[in-house]
Amino acid sequence: MSQMTSSPSSPAASPRILIVGNAGQLGRELESIFAGGGPIIAVDRESVDLADADQTRALVRRAAPDLILNAAAYTAVDRAESESELAYAINAHAPRILAEEALKRDALLVHYSTDYVFDGGKPEPWVETDSPNPLNVYGASKLAGEQAVEKMGGKFLIFRTSWVYGPHGNNFLLTMLRLGRERDRLSIVDDQVGAPTTSIELARATHQIVTGIHAGRFGAPSEWAGLYHMTCGGSVSWCGFAQAIFTRAAELMGGKIPQVTPIPTSEYPTPARRPLNSVLSNDRLLSRFGIQLPTWEIALDEVVQSLQKRAQE
Ligand SMILES: NC(=O)c1ccc[n+]([C@@H]2O[C@H](COP(=O)([O-])OP(=O)(O)OC[C@H]3O[C@@H](n4cnc5c(N)ncnc54)[C@H](OP(=O)(O)O)[C@@H]3O)[C@@H](O)[C@H]2O)c1
Repeated sequence: MSQMTSSPSSPAASPRILIVGNAGQLGRELESIFAGGGPIIAVDRESVDLADADQTRALVRRAAPDLILNAAAYTAVDRAESESELAYAINAHAPRILAEEALKRDALLVHYSTDYVFDGGKPEPWVETDSPNPLNVYGASKLAGEQAVEKMGGKFLIFRTSWVYGPHGNNFLLTMLRLGRERDRLSIVDDQVGAPTTSIELARATHQIVTGIHAGRFGAPSEWAGLYHMTCGGSVSWCGFAQAIFTRAAELMGGKIPQVTPIPTSEYPTPARRPLNSVLSNDRLLSRFGIQLPTWEIALDEVVQSLQKRAQE
């Protein structure tokens, strides 16, 4: 468990915050943006194993939070096909326990889910009322987590997002930069389309919404609790995303840009099937909270610039 930090101002009004999974891409950004807004207890896998129900329950009781931000998840999409039990323990059972403990304390639980709850077969962006039909174990386990949190009720927010990346962690952007340095040619899937979304923008939007709720701007929980899609704007294929990365980040790859060949999913078989169209509509988020994340291109610019700055230091 990392250190507990206290805000110097109006401690009575500041919620006690528990951040679960603070070593992950999103958890790291959440810890940074919520810092100073109240006492924070932030935990990683080393201090609490979410696959252990007793540890998870004890964590919440010990932390006694007013706000739980659950950024932890089993995110290894392909490995989940052969580790289904573990994926369900972390992505479905642990969120149920967090929701149960949150309800007992009247705390707000913020939980994250995925575009992979959908089968990708709809040509338009998916809305929250569309029927999920996951193609893989990861998506099914995340859907079970959503359903457990919704069933528990109380003060909860579920943000479904997609193609998460940022300046840290395991993600497509950093993989492309590494491959771009190592290879002259790359073949990249061009028929899966989604909205790349940065961990930074997710943390910002979460912070804005939670702060608004805390300030009473969105009314009673019955008016705002629920499921929302939350992604950057626009859409692109993995191949298009890679090309956008390469054109912006040549200097991070020693000045060279690899030649990219678009390929269909059928030429890049993986253990887990993935949806072809996983673009999510963010209309509900905008109409309820007045929040719209920037386009994926603008968000990408910010991350590339921060990596360039880091490389120069
Ligand atoms: N990444 C994506 O492309 C993507 C897309 C759509 C939705 N999402 C959702 O967005 C949220 C944030 O994802 P992310 O990209 O930030 O994930 P991430 O970088 O993989 O971070 C997840 C964190 O959860 C931790 N964790 C895994 N198993 C655990 C366990 N048994 N006990 C405690 N902690 C455990 C991981 O620890 P270790 O590092 O030690 O494994 C890691 O720090 C998740 O709900 C995810 O499902 C992600």
